[in-house]
Amino acid sequence: MTTKLGFIGSGGIAQHHLKNLVQMDGVSLSAFYDVDAQRAQKVASEHNGAKAFSNLDEMLDSTSLDGVYVCVPPMAHGEAELKLVQRGIPFLVEKPLGIDREVPDAIAKQVKASNLLTSVGYHWRYNESANLAKQLLADSKAGMALGYWMGGMPMVPWWRVQAGSGGQFVEQTTHIVDLLRYICGEVREVYASYALQVMDEQVEGTDVPDVGSVTMKLASGMIATISNTCLLPVGHHVGLDIYTNKGVLELRSDALRDISSQGTQLHPNTANPYFVEDEAFIYALRTGDRSRILSDYADSLHTHNITIAANESAASGKPVSLI
Ligand SMILES: NC(=O)c1ccc[n+]([C@@H]2O[C@H](COP(=O)([O-])OP(=O)(O)OC[C@H]3O[C@@H](n4cnc5c(N)ncnc54)[C@H](O)[C@@H]3O)[C@@H](O)[C@H]2O)c1
Repeated sequence: MTTKLGFIGSGGIAQHHLKNLVQMDGVSLSAFYDVDAQRAQKVASEHNGAKAFSNLDEMLDSTSLDGVYVCVPPMAHGEAELKLVQRGIPFLVEKPLGIDREVPDAIAKQVKASNLLTSVGYHWRYNESANLAKQLLADSKAGMALGYWMGGMPMVPWWRVQAGSGGQFVEQTTHIVDLLRYICGEVREVYASYALQVMDEQVEGTDVPDVGSVTMKLASGMIATISNTCLLPVGHHVGLDIYTNKGVLELRSDALRDISSQGTQLHPNTANPYFVEDEAFIYALRTGDRSRILSDYADSLHTHNITIAANESAASGKPVSLI
């Protein structure tokens, strides 16, 4: 049986998913919609039998799609997801869910009411290291965590604008916040400080903060601080370090380092987490079994709201509590 897929948004991350999906048997990349009609046309021309659309309703009504990838920039969420829910079409949506609380909240309500199958692109959860860290923590007591996303600025034009991306913590560092939640549990309070130091002088139109630190209190009693910067000319740390009574777990995209009094053990990640995430979505579409999807819309909303609370705290100078 062929699984027919559509794409809303055909930019960078869509290409990433497409590279995985073309390797899977029985997947048909059938329909592409993008506000940039030429881009949709170009991507469609690269896949046998695919059609490009310049009208989203037309795509959804004329093609019987089994699932849709929503790969639009952060400020463009809302319309696509709500049209998919109305038609009962399952979707995988890229993080972040939006740039505010309101749009994702409204979508989450509709998704819940319809019990629609969803997946959200928090691919760090699909690294072997994330699940190994959970196992290792089962017989130790975690006290604190330090997270990082220290790098340069992605040059897609919407990224540097607060009203486009929601800023680095919402758009990028959300992966580390999600990893923290996945491994260490829920966050109850957030306090953030941000600043814009240099990037507005280096890249015209920049209004997102280029440095920030966010301290969080977790339900478990743990304290976590996640910092980010986009002012570097080179990449630096990206990941999460968890401090326990047994030692330190250092999670990076390529491995987990388990540092204890016995020495250091390196556990490399061998699978491509985007591939595992895509496989889990396709498997769920085919079987109805959602158990391999590690992050759905309802769960992701909690991660998203932490990042929005951080923005609110940075603006007010006060801690924000999350219920
Ligand atoms: N999971 C990850 O690791 C990861 C990596 C990169 C990007 N992303 C996320 O994916 C999303 C897209 O990022 P990207 O790098 O592909 O951006 P991009 O700018 O390369 O592509 C976005 C595409 O969406 C189109 N678009 C804009 N508004 C639209 C709308 N309303 N309807 C349909 N199409 C629309 C644009 O024309 C563009 O082709 C962002 O939210 C980003 O955070 C996730």
